[in-house]
Amino acid sequence: MPDFDINSTGERVGKVFADRIKGKTVIVTGVSPGGFGADTARVLALYGARVILAGRSLTKIKATADAVKKVPNADLKELVIDLGSLKSVRRAAEEVLGYSVPIDVVITNAGVMGTPYQKTVDGIEFQLACNHVGHYFIKLILPKLLEAPEPRVVLGVSVGHFWGGVRFEDYNFEDGKNGQSKSAVIFHGVALAERYNKLVVFSVHPGSAATNLDSTMTMEDYERCPDLSYF
Ligand SMILES: NC(=O)c1ccc[n+]([C@@H]2O[C@H](COP(=O)([O-])OP(=O)(O)OC[C@H]3O[C@@H](n4cnc5c(N)ncnc54)[C@H](OP(=O)(O)O)[C@@H]3O)[C@@H](O)[C@H]2O)c1
Repeated sequence: MPDFDINSTGERVGKVFADRIKGKTVIVTGVSPGGFGADTARVLALYGARVILAGRSLTKIKATADAVKKVPNADLKELVIDLGSLKSVRRAAEEVLGYSVPIDVVITNAGVMGTPYQKTVDGIEFQLACNHVGHYFIKLILPKLLEAPEPRVVLGVSVGHFWGGVRFEDYNFEDGKNGQSKSAVIFHGVALAERYNKLVVFSVHPGSAATNLDSTMTMEDYERCPDLSYF
C-alpha cells in the first residue's frame, strides 16, 4: 500500500487504484462546482468509471458535467435528487432502479453545515434530513448495489461526531444546541454493514477544504461552535 499524505492529489490516489476504478458505475451525491463531490467525480471519470452525477440543482450538475467532460471519453449520467425531500429521494431511487447496470459504489458526499434552523417539507430538521435521512436513498437502491460483485458504500462524514452523539429523544433538534447528523451517518454505516454482508461500508472524513459548505455561516456561528482545533 503506497503512502498517501496531505500532499497526495486525487489523481495520484486514482492512478494507484486505476484498475479498481475502471469500468465501475459510481453514484456521487453533491457534485456542485467547487466541492469535494465534483472533484471526486472528475477523478473517477479520469480513471474510467461511469459516474452518476447526483445533486439537487440540475444547473450545477450540468456545470460539473461540462467540466468533467474535458476528460476524454468521460461516461456521465445526471441524477436529480433533493435529499431534503423524501418524495425527491424516492423518485431518484426509482430512476436508479431502472438503470440497466448495477451500481458498484455510492458515495454520499452531499451535505450541509450550519444552515439556519428550518424543517423540510417532511417536517424533519433540515441538516439531519440532508446529511442523514435523505441518504436512506441507499436503502432504496440496495437491489442495484447488491447486483454488483463487490458493492461499496462511502458515507461522507466530518469530525461532527466528536461534538455529540444522536439525541434520539430530540431527533428534530428542537433546541438547536448540538449537531448530530454526522454521528447519525456513522450509525447508519454500521447498521448497513451489519445487515448486508456483501456491502463494504466506509464513513469518510474528507479533511478540511475551502468549499461552499459554510456559505451560510457567520463568524458568530463559528464562535458558538465547540473547539474547532480538530480542523
Ligand atoms: N469542506 C470541508 O472542510 C469539510 C470538512 C468535513 C466534512 N466535509 C463534508 O464533505 C462533504 C462535501 O462538502 P463540501 O465541503 O464539498 O461542500 P459543498 O461544496 O457545499 O458540497 C456539498 C454538496 O451537497 C449538496 N447538497 C446540499 N444539500 C443537498 C440536498 N438537500 N440535496 C442534494 N444535495 C445537497 C450541495 O448542493 P448545492 O450546491 O445545491 O447546495 C453540494 O453539491 C459534506 O458531506 C461535508 O459535510 C467537508
